[in-house]
Order: sequence, then structure tokens, then C-alpha cells
Amino acid sequence: MAADLGLDPAFLDSVPGKRVLVRSDLNVPLDGATITDDGRIRASLPTITALADAGARVVVAAHLGRPKGEPDAAYSLRPVAQRLGELLGRPVAFATDTVGDSARETVDGLADGGVAVLENVRFNAGETSKDDAERGAFADALAALADAFVSDGFGVVHRKQASVYDVAQRLPHAKGQLVATEVDVLRRLTETPERPYAVVLGGSKVSDKLGVIDNLLGKADQLLIGGGMVFTFLAAQGHEVGASLLESDQLETCRSYLARAEETGVRILLPTDVVVDTAFPAGGRTPEPRVVAADAIPADCLGLDIGPESGRAFAAALADARTVFWNGPMGVFEVPAFAEGTRAVAQALTGVDGLSVVGGGDSAAAVRALGFDEAAFGHISTGGGASLEYLEGRALPGLDVLEH
Ligand code: 3PG
Repeated sequence: MAADLGLDPAFLDSVPGKRVLVRSDLNVPLDGATITDDGRIRASLPTITALADAGARVVVAAHLGRPKGEPDAAYSLRPVAQRLGELLGRPVAFATDTVGDSARETVDGLADGGVAVLENVRFNAGETSKDDAERGAFADALAALADAFVSDGFGVVHRKQASVYDVAQRLPHAKGQLVATEVDVLRRLTETPERPYAVVLGGSKVSDKLGVIDNLLGKADQLLIGGGMVFTFLAAQGHEVGASLLESDQLETCRSYLARAEETGVRILLPTDVVVDTAFPAGGRTPEPRVVAADAIPADCLGLDIGPESGRAFAAALADARTVFWNGPMGVFEVPAFAEGTRAVAQALTGVDGLSVVGGGDSAAAVRALGFDEAAFGHISTGGGASLEYLEGRALPGLDVLEH
């Protein structure tokens, strides 16, 4: 299991009566104003609760989606602030702007132990600007609302953005409980993994995973591949993949990974069977799933999940692992007809005698959507892109800045 790492005690001692700006990652999926997966909000509770209980005036900054640097009602954090209040079991004030009059009044109105959420930081062009001065000016305005900063939005620590990076240069700062816990788990995966160490990768595009495959081929004992990205690997082996997702410009790279794995003794496991259909399950179309051999995908079909034989083989390969990292669903798990491969992998992770890590984004949403008990996994990361970049061995600006 992952240990929950608390806030630095000396920092906590310093916060009573102080305004503490907390950068959380509250970027949750919404259907209209309905939150369809509140996992990231729940993951942000320990740090907010610890600060409020210590008597801080907690000012939460976060983003939702990718608005274009100006207010856009579709990306308002209002429903998120309301859900945060329900989960915290205490009132949460909401500022209708990020650094304007409403933000200042809301922060001024906080009592010790009170909590407020600022409107989406990305309603301000300075948040994501590549121009240091523009980003810096917005960070100045954010910093003026607080006396200290806590970085707890693990899902954004790979972003050099004002509320993640620049504000930490302007205020006394600390790592939040979530960031500390996530980093501890990722360090165990990269520095001292207990062996056998297996990595399961899925998701749609192999081009999103090149860095991580490159780095993990030197660290893991087995690499299991499914999801849309597997068809480029199957094609690299010379198989026809029909109308499946294929990144032709990555065929050579996939061939080189297969060759490297053979040379270094890393086992790459690809599916031997695939669930196909003649069209993507969209627009109310009733799926007509069919299981075919992975090397015999009909020309008019596309692969939408790994097949049952492959699900069993993947589960068997994970049975003896002492460390497992999984990122990316095995198929279109949102549609029951194509969810079984993802379910088989998730189920196998729950049986791992050691550390099992679900690496954020879609895979974290999948385990919750498929009804798994989160406690059955060693750790469910809140950061998709951030955890992948960490595993690629890249420097993450939002973590580096906290070291100074
Ligand atoms: C995520 O959803 O992975 C994080 O919230 C980061 O969002 P971004 O990719 O829009 O920066």
C-alpha cells in the first residue's frame, strides 16, 4: 500500500490565521453540470482538511478543462466547489473570478479554518502563457491573495503554469499530502521496484507513450500492451489490423522496441485475440462484438478490446508480479461489450502481492466506473500525464520549484 504522507509539521504549525493558497487538481469529468467521477475532488480532501483543521484560511485554486484564457461558463468550477463542500462536510465559499473583486472579498471574508474556491485559473490568459512576464503578473495577483502556498495538484505538476510554478517562487511553500504521496509511489516504481516488475500500457495512441516505453524497457521485466495502441505493435509484427487505430509513422519505432526487448530479455506481451466490430460504438449504435485472432482481424473490422484469452494471459502474467504499474484502458471500457479486457487487468491488479499502481486519467476512471473498490489497489494516481512524464524520467517544473 502507499503510505499517506502528511504535510510538513513545521509548515502546519505556521498556518493558524494565515491565508494559504492550495493548488489542487479538481479537473473532473462533467456531463453538463453533473460530475461523473469525483475521484480527484476526494483525493484533494486530506490536505484541505489538515490545513483548515490547523486554523488556516484555505484558498483553493484549480483549473477545469482547457478554456481559452477567458471566462467560459461551461468550465466554471462552481459545481466542483459545491461537491467539495459536500465531501468536506463544511461550507465552501466560491469566488466568481480568480484574482478580481470577488476573489478578494471572498478571501477577506474567510474565518480561521474557512475554505474558499476561486473560479477556474485558466479563465486568465496569464495562467498558461509561455511568456514569463505575463505568467508572472498573474502569479503576482494570485500570491497577493495569500501568505503561503501548498502545491497539491499532482495532475498538473508537469505544467509550467502560474498557479503551479510561478506562485511557488513568490510565497513560502510546501508539498501537499497528495503530491507527497504520489511522488513517493512513483519514486518506488522508478528507483527500487520489487521484482518481478510488470507494466501494463493501453490507451489509444502509442505516440503518447513513447517516452515511457523507452524508459521502462530498461527497468521493467514485462511489458503488457493493449488498448488502441496495440494495433501499431501488431502491424509492426506484420499482421493486418483491418480498420483498427494505426499510427503508421510509429511502425519503425514499435519494431525497434520489440527488437530491444528481445535483446535485453524484457518480455513484451501482446494480445492473441481481439474483440472487434464493424464500427466504433457511437451515436446510439448497438455493438455487434466478435472475438477474432489478433493476427486475423478482418479488413472491415476494428479492434475495440483485447479478447478473453488475452485477458486471461495478462492476468496470469501479473499473478506473480511484486510491482505493477498500469496506465491506459485495454479497450473502449465505457461500452460494456468492450470493457472486459480492462476489467480483467483491473481484477488482476487487485490480487497483486506487492505494489499495484493505477496510473491516473482514463485507467483511474475505468476502475471506478467498473465498480472496483479503490482500496483494493495499492495506489490510484490522480495524474495521467504527470505520472507518465515522471516515469519517462523528465523533470517536472511543479516539483522542481518546490525544492528551492
Ligand atoms: C489532467 O487532466 O491530466 C490534469 O488535470 C492536467 O490537465 P491538462 O492536461 O489540461 O493540463
